[in-house]
Amino acid sequence: MGSFWVFKPREVILKRTVFQMPDAGRAKIQFNRTNVILGIVLLLSFAGVLHHLVVLRKIRVAYVHNERSKPKVNPIWSKKCVKPEGYVFLKKHKTASTTFKGIMVNISKNLTLDGEKRWLGPQGGCYPAPFDPTCWPYSEEGSHYEKIQAMSYHFRWNLDYMPKLLANNRENIRTITTIRDPLDTFRSVFNYFYGAKRKGPHDDCDITCFGEPFWSITQSYNSTIGEFLDQLDEKYTDDAPYAFRAKNIQAYEMGMELKKMDDSKYVRKSLIEMDKQFDLVILTEHFWESIVLLSHLMCVEYSTLYRHGFKIILCYIFITIISKNQVLNLQKELMRTKKTTKCHN
Ligand SMILES: *[C@@H]1O[C@H](CO)[C@@H](O)[C@H](O)[C@H]1NC(C)=O
Ligand SMILES: *[C@@H]1O[C@H](CO)[C@@H](O)[C@H](O)[C@H]1NC(C)=O
Ligand SMILES: *[C@@H]1O[C@H](CO)[C@@H](O)[C@H](O)[C@H]1NC(C)=O
Repeated sequence: MGSFWVFKPREVILKRTVFQMPDAGRAKIQFNRTNVILGIVLLLSFAGVLHHLVVLRKIRVAYVHNERSKPKVNPIWSKKCVKPEGYVFLKKHKTASTTFKGIMVNISKNLTLDGEKRWLGPQGGCYPAPFDPTCWPYSEEGSHYEKIQAMSYHFRWNLDYMPKLLANNRENIRTITTIRDPLDTFRSVFNYFYGAKRKGPHDDCDITCFGEPFWSITQSYNSTIGEFLDQLDEKYTDDAPYAFRAKNIQAYEMGMELKKMDDSKYVRKSLIEMDKQFDLVILTEHFWESIVLLSHLMCVEYSTLYRHGFKIILCYIFITIISKNQVLNLQKELMRTKKTTKCHN
């Protein structure tokens, strides 16, 4: 008898010790009201926990995204404005930039910043080639490379080089430009470089290449904008002199390459870079809002941004948008704020 138990297989013994219940642990849960209600309650709480986890995750994702999308440099729109040590205003053709340049110059005076010297006429930095150090005129007041003060001429942004140029003092330098409705800009570019300036055939480009690319594309110096647009699809080529004026002059001056402007991946990538590289992109159609933002960004009072006789602005922006009375009211309003507004620092 004794020897029989010694050789009993091990798992049988284990089974006996673990499941002491008569039906070897397979007790059925009874199907009654209490159990059904309990089951439903359990199911509901399980669903509740799951729901909370999903919601919590969503909140976390939104929070992380929000944290990430906060600008890393220049917490500009924080409540207190901080006076910058310099700025780069990219002056772009036909986008009300002359008006804003005037305003920027007054800001320079108020912040006692020296203006950078221009290279050629109203231009700097090798325009229409992208800005690079070889075209930066030396100024006797000091090295450009150490500290930018006030740069506000026409040049072409360089998406690769500008961040390097600004890197040593990025937090204290403000970068600004203006953009305008593309069709309005095109109309203005056409009239300025071609329509208003036609004098006769342009055999060679002068420094500003007036007439181009419109003359090369139409082979005429008296086409109307409609006639030009009718020929555009057929005759446009990126290789025409100053072709960017007939494609997207704003994207070009902000640093995009002409021949890659049809590549949506490149365009998207460039836009992301621009978004990082500019602190304020003024929409010329929102002049007054821009003045408010500019005042805060540069930490100057509205009175510094005021300009007597808004003639240029009227021509550029308001003539088609608002009536003369509204303009007068806005001017009155500005005069009032001039007397009462203080810088928010
Ligand atoms: C800048 O503007 C402020 C406010 O109008 C003024 O108090 C200050 O004197 C100005 N600074 C200069 C250098 O003009
Ligand atoms: C443009 O000029 C040409 C001569 O160069 C002339 O034959 C033509 O009629 C002109 N067109 C317009 C619209 O003025
Ligand atoms: C700059 O300031 C002067 C003096 O206040 C003013 O006469 C001029 O209109 C201002 N220019 C611009 C562009 O705001």
